[in-house]
Amino acid sequence: MFLEAFDLTGKVAIFVGGSGGLGKTISLGLAKAGANVIPVSRSKQRNEEVVKEIEASGVQSLLTTVDVTREEEVQRLVEEVMSKFGRIDILINAAGINYKKPVIELTVAEWDHVIAVNLKGTFLCCKLVGEKMLAQNYGKIVNIASLGSHLGITRSAAYCASKGAVLQLTKVLAAEWASHGINVNCISPGYFKTALNEKMLSEKETYDKIMNRTPMQRLGVPEDLVGATVFLCSDAAKFITGTTIEVDGGFLSMAL
Ligand SMILES: NC(=O)c1ccc[n+]([C@@H]2O[C@H](COP(=O)([O-])OP(=O)(O)OC[C@H]3O[C@@H](n4cnc5c(N)ncnc54)[C@H](OP(=O)(O)O)[C@@H]3O)[C@@H](O)[C@H]2O)c1
Repeated sequence: MFLEAFDLTGKVAIFVGGSGGLGKTISLGLAKAGANVIPVSRSKQRNEEVVKEIEASGVQSLLTTVDVTREEEVQRLVEEVMSKFGRIDILINAAGINYKKPVIELTVAEWDHVIAVNLKGTFLCCKLVGEKMLAQNYGKIVNIASLGSHLGITRSAAYCASKGAVLQLTKVLAAEWASHGINVNCISPGYFKTALNEKMLSEKETYDKIMNRTPMQRLGVPEDLVGATVFLCSDAAKFITGTTIEVDGGFLSMAL
């Protein structure tokens, strides 16, 4: 059947940030597509809730945690998943933080923290999971970028710098690993209401500005990201690498 190419049955997916505001819904979407999904972040409790829902949907999971800024923790995560499943087919990198303030007020510690989670964390996960994917000659990596990868968002200097770099890192990995059966792509979400930006989106002036620039005239909901993620993780996208799918209601397409 034609849709078989989208089927993820039996695939093993590490989802970093997979119990977060966007991550939880996408984790469950990957599980519905047949993948065994391991949602990880620092919070064991949040991961556990999602692990239970994933297992209830009939696929396997694993309860563990990771702080992506720490190489030894990412290494431990990779070994835990390898010892239970013997392979890692899919990696989603969605751990992300921001300190929403003007450059002049952003401390060096805050800058370092954002770069450590959003950029170094993505690098570490790609590198350490990538080693296993290279050995099996198969892998799908999806890095969650942002509008801030493409545009300068005020009060988000470290965030935009990190997300712009994630886009570039994705292209380099795509080029280096294309001949080893590994696809590396990004998804750039537009504005979605989660813990990350709840405060900003509740400012009426900011919200109105965003709506005026969004052709579809609404915020995204996490379900909007499931189709693009399943697609990029599937063999339906096997000739696609080093690119980004913008899931933003048209935001990046409109000048006025
Ligand atoms: N919401 C939007 O409108 C939007 C738009 C564009 C891009 N994005 C991107 O989408 C991704 C998910 O964001 P979200 O909106 O779902 O926000 P969220 O609910 O705050 O999720 C962020 C995730 O990152 C994890 N995380 C933070 N620091 C971590 C660390 N050191 N190690 C491991 N995990 C860590 C969090 O889990 P713990 O705190 O438990 O560790 C959480 O699972 C982020 O990369 C974000 O930049 C979001």
